[in-house]
Formats: sequence, C-alpha cells, structure tokens
Amino acid sequence: MRLRSKHSSTAPTAPAAPQYPPRTSGDTAHGRHGSVAGAVAGAAVELRSVRRTYGRGDSTVHALRGIDLALPRGSFTAVMGPSGSGKSTFLQCAAGLDKPTTGTVHLGGADITGLSENKLTQLRRSRIGFIFQSFNLLPSLTVQQNVMLPQRLAGARPDRRRAAELLAQVGLEGYGKRRPGQLSGGQQQRVAIARALVTAPEVVFADEPTGALDTNTAREVLGLLRHAVDRLGATVVMVTHDPVAASFADRVLFLADGSLAGHLERPEPTEIADHMVALTTGTRPERVARAAA
Ligand SMILES: Nc1ncnc2c1ncn2[C@@H]1O[C@H](COP(=O)(O)OP(=O)(O)OP(=O)(O)O)[C@@H](O)[C@H]1O
Ligand SMILES: [Mg+2]
Repeated sequence: MRLRSKHSSTAPTAPAAPQYPPRTSGDTAHGRHGSVAGAVAGAAVELRSVRRTYGRGDSTVHALRGIDLALPRGSFTAVMGPSGSGKSTFLQCAAGLDKPTTGTVHLGGADITGLSENKLTQLRRSRIGFIFQSFNLLPSLTVQQNVMLPQRLAGARPDRRRAAELLAQVGLEGYGKRRPGQLSGGQQQRVAIARALVTAPEVVFADEPTGALDTNTAREVLGLLRHAVDRLGATVVMVTHDPVAASFADRVLFLADGSLAGHLERPEPTEIADHMVALTTGTRPERVARAAA
C-alpha cells in the first residue's frame, strides 16, 4: 500500500461556492447514474441552499444556514470546523440520513430530498457507503460476511469474489474467515472500508474514520481512502478534526456556525491547522477562499 506524501500543489483557490470542475474523463466505474437536467454534470453529491434548523421560536438552532456545493465523482473531500459548526448535520443531510428543512440534495444527479423513508433506506443501502469512527462491524459475522452485508441488505446476491478482491485491496487477503474481534482497530477499519465500497456506491461518507486509531494506523487507513479514490474511482466525503487526515483530501471545506467558511485545495496540514485557528479566533489566513454566504 502506498501512502501519499505531502502535497506540493499550490493551486489557486476555487470560485466562491465550492464546485469542482466536471471530470473530462466522464464517469468513473461508479458513474452509472446519469445526470438529470438541472444538476451539475459529474457531481456525485450536490447541495443547494440547504438549511437545517432544530426547534422553533426563540430556541431555534440554525445548524446549516444555506449550503451550496457540488462534489464531483472521483473526488476526496474533507469537512472541518469547530465543534457545533454543523459537520455531522451536513453529513447526515448529504447522505439522506436527515432531511434539510429547506433546500435540495442531489445524489448522482437525482433529487433525493422528497424521497420516502423506504426509498431513502433503499438508496442508502445500494448507493451510499458509510465508515464510522467506531467501525460498526457485526461481531458475530466473519470479515467476509461483514463486507458482503450491504449487498445482502440491498437484496443483491453476495459476491464473494468482489469481497475477496476488496479485502485484498485493503491489505487483508486471507482474513475473510476471521471475526472482527480477532483483528486490530486498524484492520477493522480496513474491513469497514471494504464494506463501504462493496456496492460501488455513488459516495462514501466517513465520520471521523481515524478518530479511534493511533497516528500510524490512521495514516494507513487514510492512504486506503486515497487509494479508493485514485484507483477504484470512489468518491469520499470525510468529516475530521485532524489536519493531517484532512490533508489526504483533494479539498478541505470549512464550516463555521452552519455556513461554509472557505476551502483549501490540496493543502498542507499546517495550512489547515492555521485556518482552524483562524476560524476559532476570528482572524483570516491568506490562502483561503471565502465561500459565498
Ligand atoms: N437533534 C438536535 N436537536 C437540536 N439541536 C441539534 C441537534 N443536532 C445538532 N444540533 C445542534 O446543531 C448544531 C450543529 O451540530 P452538529 O452536530 O452538526 O455539529 P458538529 O460540527 O458535528 O460538532 P462536533 O464537532 O462537536 O461533532 C449544534 O449547535 C448542535 O447543538
Ligand atoms: Mg459531529
């Protein structure tokens, strides 16, 4: 497994509302869902004017205050921001786990905002992959069965060959018959990555995937996510508090108080850390593009 070395790109920051250029190579291996009119071509996930409020009246909490962005297929995006800035709410709305109060979410070009709970469940099972801080593997199933679980849940025939291929991709060839309890934390997270990729989902959402891992193991897991994007054509959106983890992404989006508060292209960990400090102290570093409100 190859880990990415530090980034040297100093590409200028992109336009106000984060929107990657469409991929000229067209769709990746996962790009089986064509775009529909009105959606950004090549976008795996797109949020338009997404607001999410909790409660009413004086106690209303504005968790998201109008998020506009389009993330292309085959990209790796990190989402950062102070505690309470709306990262988890963003991830949940983008992944169809929660509904925006207003605004729309498109997945692979299709508007998912108005879907019924049943349809959303189906969609999450077949077109979205999840990776959690706590791995969330089923202890009673073998590694291979865990990897094939999303296929079973989606009603597809479990594909042992694909599971074995993915396990080999994450460096776990020959581990298929073990139980999760017989693996290290890093190995368990690799199984979770294989599981997240097994249905060739439109997007993989990762919530603090390295939060429970030591530094070296975290780097290995991040290298695998990078590999999934670069070699397997996956699209990854990852919430993290760690500037080193975020530096593995193509782009880092910052949230502050429910709004996009800038983004960095292929930044170094130090730049990311500087921006996080600036967000919490109210200063503004040089190389950050402010997102449109
Ligand atoms: N179910 C809820 N009911 C009321 N308020 C909520 C609910 N969930 C989140 N919030 C509020 O919405 C805001 C954004 O929360 P969110 O969990 O998205 O933040 P976060 O950036 O993920 O924070 P952290 O880094 O601590 O995980 C916070 O002010 C939070 O208190
Ligand atoms: Mg959170």
